[in-house]
Amino acid sequence: MLSACRFPYPRLYSWLTMLLLAVAGALAGTAAQAQKDTGRYSMTRPSADGIGKSYLGREISGVMGWQGAAWLERDERQQEERADLLLRELGLQPGMAVADIGAGTGYYARRIAPLVGSGNSGGLVYATDVQPEMMKMLEDGAKKAGLTNIKPVLGGLQSVNLPGSSIDLALMVDVYHELEYPFEVLDSLVRALKPGGRIAFVEYRLEDPRVPIKPLHKMSEAQVRKEASVHALVWERTAHTLPWQHVVIFRKK
Ligand SMILES: C[S@@+](CC[C@H](N)C(=O)[O-])C[C@H]1O[C@@H](n2cnc3c(N)ncnc32)[C@H](O)[C@@H]1O
Repeated sequence: MLSACRFPYPRLYSWLTMLLLAVAGALAGTAAQAQKDTGRYSMTRPSADGIGKSYLGREISGVMGWQGAAWLERDERQQEERADLLLRELGLQPGMAVADIGAGTGYYARRIAPLVGSGNSGGLVYATDVQPEMMKMLEDGAKKAGLTNIKPVLGGLQSVNLPGSSIDLALMVDVYHELEYPFEVLDSLVRALKPGGRIAFVEYRLEDPRVPIKPLHKMSEAQVRKEASVHALVWERTAHTLPWQHVVIFRKK
């Protein structure tokens, strides 16, 4: 048997021990996390656009990488998504605190900021994302547009990282379907809402085969409602006014 006093390199021995302990700790942590995940999530063979993890019967899609950011700022976007109609559906008022979750380059945050921050109303937009590269583009875009009421926040995989009871309206445009931890993120978002605050899920309509988006990047209204129903949220209404997306709105109980 190998003993410390007989081992000719005691310093190497202690390094090896530390390394082994670190590896064992990491493996135990991963196993514990996997065990925790399996209760809520199930692992499947990943499909082309998915991550091989399912939640309430839906495979979660892969995250849109920052390398594709130009698509979010494409000229045709206004025509395809009618951002003007979406903003009308949201009931924005000066002075509101809005959270744009998974804001990407800030396409929507830049359009919301002037509407909630007009005059001295103090309205602001928290713009969150998990990719630091997106955050940088978002900050540059806000600066270029001269907007001072967009507050960038680096989100976590399991938390929106926003203060409790601080948000009047949270918006997720084309984001929820790619959250790796949808339950945990939504749970943290509900905690960040003020009493009576709202969440708007904006997703490409899975029900409509004419919407030219890959299936895992679309969501049906029924699935959105199913996933929201396990949180302290009440469905308020669904707007069908946009060309490709539906806007499913909930209020905090
Ligand atoms: C398809 S893009 C949409 C961006 C933006 N909402 C828009 O419509 O222009 C999805 C964004 O969600 C972000 N995202 C993915 N998981 C996230 C999480 N857990 N928290 C915050 N953002 C996340 C991605 O990094 C990506 O920028």
